[in-house]
Amino acid sequence: MKRVFSGVQPTGNITIGNYLGAIKQFVTYQEDNDAFYCVVDLHSITLPQDPKELHKNSLSVAAMYMAVGLDPSKCTIFLQSSVKEHAELGWFLQCMSSTGELSRMTQFKDKSRGQESAPTGLFTYPTLMAADILLYDTNYVPVGNDQKQHLELTRDLAMRFNNRFGKTFVVPEYKEQKVGARIMSLDEPTSKMSKSNPNEHSRICLLDPPNKVKKSLMRSTTDSDMEVRFDPENKAGVSNLLTIYSAFSGLSIKDLEKKYEGLGYGTFKKELVVVVNDSLAEIQDKYNKIIDSPELLEVLKTGADRAREVASATMDRVKKNMGFVTL
Ligand code: TYM
Repeated sequence: MKRVFSGVQPTGNITIGNYLGAIKQFVTYQEDNDAFYCVVDLHSITLPQDPKELHKNSLSVAAMYMAVGLDPSKCTIFLQSSVKEHAELGWFLQCMSSTGELSRMTQFKDKSRGQESAPTGLFTYPTLMAADILLYDTNYVPVGNDQKQHLELTRDLAMRFNNRFGKTFVVPEYKEQKVGARIMSLDEPTSKMSKSNPNEHSRICLLDPPNKVKKSLMRSTTDSDMEVRFDPENKAGVSNLLTIYSAFSGLSIKDLEKKYEGLGYGTFKKELVVVVNDSLAEIQDKYNKIIDSPELLEVLKTGADRAREVASATMDRVKKNMGFVTL
């Protein structure tokens, strides 16, 4: 059985970008793999977090995992901070990486742009992410394509370590997904949809009420011709909406182009609103049942125990192979 690992940061409301780019795949992968899904709370403190918000958002991501269909009897759901080995291996991998390669990470460059000095944690973020993945002998990592560079670094670090200290880590594979790997902003469809954009209409969050979804989609940027056609280079906005429609409805982009031939953007957008709101209503209904239930904490405790078992065995192997005295 193959191992799968992925994580989401508890830094605010989860967007449909997070969902279609990553979390929706988690549900598929739990069926035939030994899957670990983590709330990566240690990553979130690379930027300042309010303690109350961090607490609330961490539980919210875990509840959302279950609301979209992750089943704790099929996969392991846990908080990164519950398993000390993440921080521990993160340090070891920092010592295997160079400032040169970490400076080339585009996420670091984007987040530190214009600042004379950036938080150290933001700089070493990718080595902690590599630790997350390598602790679990991971084969596949379902992520959006903005994480591709981090995954490549993870592979480099794993191979470097194995070359130097003997086979210790499984080198994970990157699998590009076909639809939804990069959901774009609704207002500016040439940049990625993100939780942190100051314009709330640039994104749709899984917990958004129907009228907000309607507003954001109806005012989304399109273009001046009226053709519902997939052409990301020349029609970035419409292509992004087609991707969203296809991912939520299961209809192919080709079928959607046919369905809306000659109908114009108004009808297309109105029907997209219904499709998205129907899916979100189902997710929100489940989320509301889980978020305050005692079951949530139980799931996280059981998940942490299972994760610790695997992570501590890997960490023992790492230390032994590096020459640490293990007692
Ligand atoms: P985070 O929390 O920023 O995003 C969670 C997941 O959502 C994907 N994503 C998107 N996919 C498509 N379109 C978008 N607009 C979009 N926005 C976000 C991200 O690619 C990600 O898969 N570094 C990770 C968290 C992490 C992690 C890990 C992931 C930490 N350790 C180990 C996998 C394995 C991140 O930034 O997540």
